[in-house]
Amino acid sequence: MSTVLYTGIGELVTSSGGVKRGRAMNDTGVISDGAFAVSDGIFTAVGRKDELLTAADYDSVADLGGALVTPGIVDPHTHAVFGGERSEEFLRRLSGDGYMEIMRQGGGIASTVRATRTADEDALVAGALPHLKRMLSMGVTTCEVKSGYGLDTDTELRQLRAVKRLGELQSVETVPTFMGAHAVPEGMTADGYIDYCRESSIPAAARSGMAVFADVFCEAGVFDLEQSERYLLAARREGLLLKLHADEMTCLGGAGLGARLGAVSVDHLLKISAGDMAAIAHSDTVATVLPLTAFCLSEPYAPARELIDSGAIVAAGSDFNPGSCCSYSVPLLIALCCIYMKMSVDETLTAITVNAAAACGVSDRVGSIEPGKQADFAVFDCERRHMLPYFSGVNLVKSVFKKGERVYNV
Ligand code: NIG
Ligand code: FE
Repeated sequence: MSTVLYTGIGELVTSSGGVKRGRAMNDTGVISDGAFAVSDGIFTAVGRKDELLTAADYDSVADLGGALVTPGIVDPHTHAVFGGERSEEFLRRLSGDGYMEIMRQGGGIASTVRATRTADEDALVAGALPHLKRMLSMGVTTCEVKSGYGLDTDTELRQLRAVKRLGELQSVETVPTFMGAHAVPEGMTADGYIDYCRESSIPAAARSGMAVFADVFCEAGVFDLEQSERYLLAARREGLLLKLHADEMTCLGGAGLGARLGAVSVDHLLKISAGDMAAIAHSDTVATVLPLTAFCLSEPYAPARELIDSGAIVAAGSDFNPGSCCSYSVPLLIALCCIYMKMSVDETLTAITVNAAAACGVSDRVGSIEPGKQADFAVFDCERRHMLPYFSGVNLVKSVFKKGERVYNV
């Protein structure tokens, strides 16, 4: 197998050394005048260019012209597979209607459920494909995708099949999450629907082999703490790893529940309590912040600064979905992390690489540039990493590599 040495790198952000918590998130392992070797889709050597050049022979050398290089970006939270769209609802929100108010009136998630139930698998795949391609153009090489717009076993499985096919059809690797408990289906009670999930959709999703995680919308008026716990315990018994939409609109205690159950991540956290913040900080549960949602809903941002200062493992993702956040803009996500959530540039880079990979359960394989990891990386049209939030909302990605292959180029 041929080995390529990549040189001519402005700053090489490696995100090496494993998942980072608290202030250690500032350690992005930046190498100046760095280089790395790739063989058979895997990073085989990473270090300073002069050291690497003398250390071994390479089949070819590729000069990146002084570009910033980062690990391929990982988006740890999306709802990218769905039927229909909800731009009318977006307009209603612009004129003052609330997200939960629209949901209570039968719109919101229920409206996407109606559209998803009538969409076949091909339509679901075709709907998501352009979004994943645009994610790739912004440096994303791995992306978690949830079901949750079926709310019945057949449609949830159809969504999971679509997630799987999408991972095979284009270059962004997909990590599947079963989110049966996304909303209460019309005509059912929350308790009755949790029983249905426990008896039907959770076992079916787990046995299909198509879901890694189970997720629940733990929120006032959706699933309370007790219902969320019953659902999550059933999912855990079936071998699924756990995630929660926690403390998004109200301070219900979902983050604390996630820490107690050993969830891989708790996500949103806009309204997390001080006690639950401490519980998360002392746990290995990843706190995933989703500032694009807060931005789109015009809500106050999650306390990412306090989470990091108290020692939590913080990741950041898009939450792309047709309702609360119709965006997967990585450049805007980076800008919001730095400008509004007061995260440093390095903390932000850690949050969207190695820590996001941990939230997806794949940090042993992706999320950093170090020997033995999958050669997923993004090359930018700038030399230094602080240019990313400086060019707020502007995509500076020049090319993207997945498993050592160039899969996107401007
Ligand atoms: O993460 N909060 C629940 N679920 C999504 C929104 C889904 C939708 O509105 O379609 C979220 O914000
Ligand atoms: Fe979400």
